[in-house]
Amino acid sequence: MTELSPVRILAIETSCDETACAVIENGRALLASTVASQMDIHARYGGVFPEVASRQHVLSIIPVVEQTLARSNVSFDDIDAVAVTRGPGLAGSLVVGMNMAKGIALGRNLPLIGVNHLEGHIYSSWIYNAGENAPPEPEFPLMALLVSGGHTELNLMTDHLTYRRLGATLDDAAGEAFDKVARLLGLPYPGGPSVQRAAETGDPTRFKFPRARLDSAYDFSFSGLKTAVLYEVNDLKKRGETLPVEDLAASFQAAVVDVLFNKTIQAARDHHAKEILVAGGVSANRALREAFQSQDEFKVHIPAFSLCTDNAAMIAAAGYYRYALGHVSGLDIDVQPTWPLSS
Ligand code: KG4
Ligand code: ZN
Repeated sequence: MTELSPVRILAIETSCDETACAVIENGRALLASTVASQMDIHARYGGVFPEVASRQHVLSIIPVVEQTLARSNVSFDDIDAVAVTRGPGLAGSLVVGMNMAKGIALGRNLPLIGVNHLEGHIYSSWIYNAGENAPPEPEFPLMALLVSGGHTELNLMTDHLTYRRLGATLDDAAGEAFDKVARLLGLPYPGGPSVQRAAETGDPTRFKFPRARLDSAYDFSFSGLKTAVLYEVNDLKKRGETLPVEDLAASFQAAVVDVLFNKTIQAARDHHAKEILVAGGVSANRALREAFQSQDEFKVHIPAFSLCTDNAAMIAAAGYYRYALGHVSGLDIDVQPTWPLSS
């Protein structure tokens, strides 16, 4: 019997400050993933500088694609379709990846698939390294918590590519709160990992920071928490005390994790979800991962660390499921800097 040849998707991701490319087979088996981070360049500005980001993508995109193909041991002849992040993200950054993807699609006569970056984060949980045993696929209905630098939302997934948004942040995203609090505490960019590092040696019970109570059980709000940290920092400074950065970071992180964890569990119970999925940059947070891993009411899917923050493997995985359903884009598509996953 001849084996059916796998469907291979090459994907490109340039929505923010990582230039990334990956090749995946049948939506799950990852052949190679390359991420060229601009973190060191933006660190000196304390955040992502959009124009610098797009120009850096221009410099990195071709080497990143070439390296990825070489590392996957495949050529353009073995690729079935090109997926690319269409949005949400920085317009000038998205355009670079989009044009590269269009160039490949046009030059190689391949279908182009525009992918929503948030959908990509969700599909990180389907990925495993080619050559390893395939772990079980997430099972629907799934409660998906999406926590990134720009988004925090709960979606009920009843099937592939089907999202019902139950709630979202009314102000700051969870990752944004980490980044802002890092700045308040004088911790370096990017904020999430620095706050986590400081929190490791801190006392999470020292400061009782607020957990926002909202009318909707599934909405989030983090700006009050950020302001509470600011007031505490100002008070301590006024009293001439040295900032207990570790305790402040640990107490802040505990408040964020508490809210994200409890609301997700509640939403999963209320909607009879079989499993929970956590995705987006903040899913790299160790305290958040431990909170979900320490309960056994729901099976929880959290991506491997390398797939939590921005990468192209997740775009390739989501792109495959879109491709399988015939969702191919025209070569005239534009980027979509603002693009909700579901309305
Ligand atoms: O998904 P992502 O890489 O980019 C967006 O799509 O926004 O998420 C980036 C966000 C940043 O706000 C970053 O501070 C946060 O994820 N983050 C973390 C951790 N690693 C990244 N937040 C908390 N703990 C971490 N370990
Ligand atoms: Zn992201």
